Amino acid sequence: MPRIPRDESFDSTPALIRDPYEFIRKGCRRHGSDLFETRLLLQRTICMSGPEAARLFYDQDRFVRRGAMPERIRRTLLGRGGVQGLDGEAHRHRKRMFMSLMTPERIAQLGQLTAEGLRTDAARWAATDRLVLYDALQEVLTRAVCTWSGVPLMEADVARRARDLTLMFDAAGAVGPRHWQSRLARWRAEGWIGNLVRQVRSGSLDVPEQSPLHIVALHRDLDGGLLRPRIAAVELLNLLRPTVAISVFITFIAHALHRYPECRQRLESGDPGYTELFVQELRRFYPFFPAVAARVRHDFEWKGYQFPRGRRVVLDLYGTDHDPRSWDAPEQFRPERFRGWDGNPFDFIPQGGGDHYLGHRCAGEWITIELMKVATGFLAGHVAYDVPGQDLRIDMSRLPALPRSGFVISNVRQHA
Ligand code: HEM
Repeated sequence: MPRIPRDESFDSTPALIRDPYEFIRKGCRRHGSDLFETRLLLQRTICMSGPEAARLFYDQDRFVRRGAMPERIRRTLLGRGGVQGLDGEAHRHRKRMFMSLMTPERIAQLGQLTAEGLRTDAARWAATDRLVLYDALQEVLTRAVCTWSGVPLMEADVARRARDLTLMFDAAGAVGPRHWQSRLARWRAEGWIGNLVRQVRSGSLDVPEQSPLHIVALHRDLDGGLLRPRIAAVELLNLLRPTVAISVFITFIAHALHRYPECRQRLESGDPGYTELFVQELRRFYPFFPAVAARVRHDFEWKGYQFPRGRRVVLDLYGTDHDPRSWDAPEQFRPERFRGWDGNPFDFIPQGGGDHYLGHRCAGEWITIELMKVATGFLAGHVAYDVPGQDLRIDMSRLPALPRSGFVISNVRQHA
C-alpha cells in the first residue's frame, strides 16, 4: 500500500502562515502528488489539492466538520456553535434555514440595497480628495446587509459596526495584537446581535416576520428548542460578516478593471452576459479563502492511501481553482473561459464545492455573485475615477490577500 508522502519538517505552521495560498499547491508539486501529510498547529494533517481531492473531501460519509477548525479561527472568523461545525442531520436542518433565505427575490433585494448604497456613497466620495476603496465599501455593505436582515442600525453606529464585522474576517488570520482585535470584535458583535435576538423573542423589538433576524431568532433546532441567543447571534453574523467581506472581491473588481482595460471596455459596452463571465473569472483568479478543513469520519482507503479516523484533512481551494488539469493557462485572467464551463462542483470552488443544501458549500454564494455584478456595473458604468500611483501588488501573505494599497481612487465623478 503506498504511503501518503510526508513533509520532513517537524511542523509546517510557519510556512503556511508565510504563504497561505500556495502552501498546499507547492507541497503537492514537491511530492508529485495530489496529497501529502504534514504537521499543522502540532497536529498531523493531510493536505490535498485538485478536483478529485475536492470530490473526496465533500463526501459526507467520509468526513466530519466537528472539531476541524483551529480554535483561533472559531474565536474570530466563525464563532462557536454555528453551522460550519455541525454534521449530519443537525447540519442539514440548520443549513436549510440559511438556504431558505437565498430566494431570487431576497437576493435581488440585497442587490438593490447595495446598488442604492453605492450610489449614495459615491456622492460623498466625490466630495473627498482620495479614498481607500476597500475601507469605503465596508460601510456600504454593512448598511445594506443590516437593512436586509432587519437589524436596526443608526447612522452614528455604522462605522463601528462595520469595523467590527470587518475585523472578524480581516484580522482572523493575523498573529499578535490584530488577532486579539478580531476576538474582541466578535465578542462585541455577538453581544450586540444576541441582545437583538432576545428583544425579538420578548416582543420588545418588532421586525418583519420574513426578515433574517426574525427567522434566525425564532429558528428551532432538531430538538424543538430555540437556539441559545449567543448561537443565534453567531448564525446571524454568518450572514452579516461575509456580506461585508464581499468588499474584498469588489476591491479585486476595481483591480481587474484597472489591470485589464479590455475587460473594462467589454463591460462598458453593456454586454450583459459578459458581466457574469467576468465575475466568475474574478472569483476563480483572485485569492480569497485559501482552504477548508475537516476530519476523517472513519478509517477508509482512497487510491490505495490510508485515511485514519480523526485525521485532520485540509483542502486547497485556491490551488484547485488554478489547477492546470481543469483550467487552461490558469494564471491568466480570461473571463471567456467560463463560456464553456460545465458547472462541475469540484473544479471551481472559491466558496467550497459540492452541494449547497446537503454539504458545507457557502450558503451565500449566489448573494456574492449578485453583489459582485452590482459592483461591477457600478464601477464600470455608474462612476468614473482616477487611480493614482500606488502599490497595487497583491499581498499574498495577508489573509485575506489584498492589493497592498487597498485600492486608492481619487476624483470620483458620477455619470448622469
Ligand atoms: C465574500 C465572499 C465569500 C467567500 C469567499 C465565501 C467562502 C466560503 C467558504 C470557503 C465556505 C466554507 C465551505 C466549506 O466549508 O466547505 C463558506 C461557508 C459559508 N458561507 Fe460563505 N463566502 C462568501 C460569502 C458569503 C455570504 C455573502 C454569506 C451569507 C450571506 C455566506 C455564508 C456562509 C455560510 C452560512 C457558510 C457555512 C456553510 C456550511 O457550513 O454549511 N458566505 N463560505
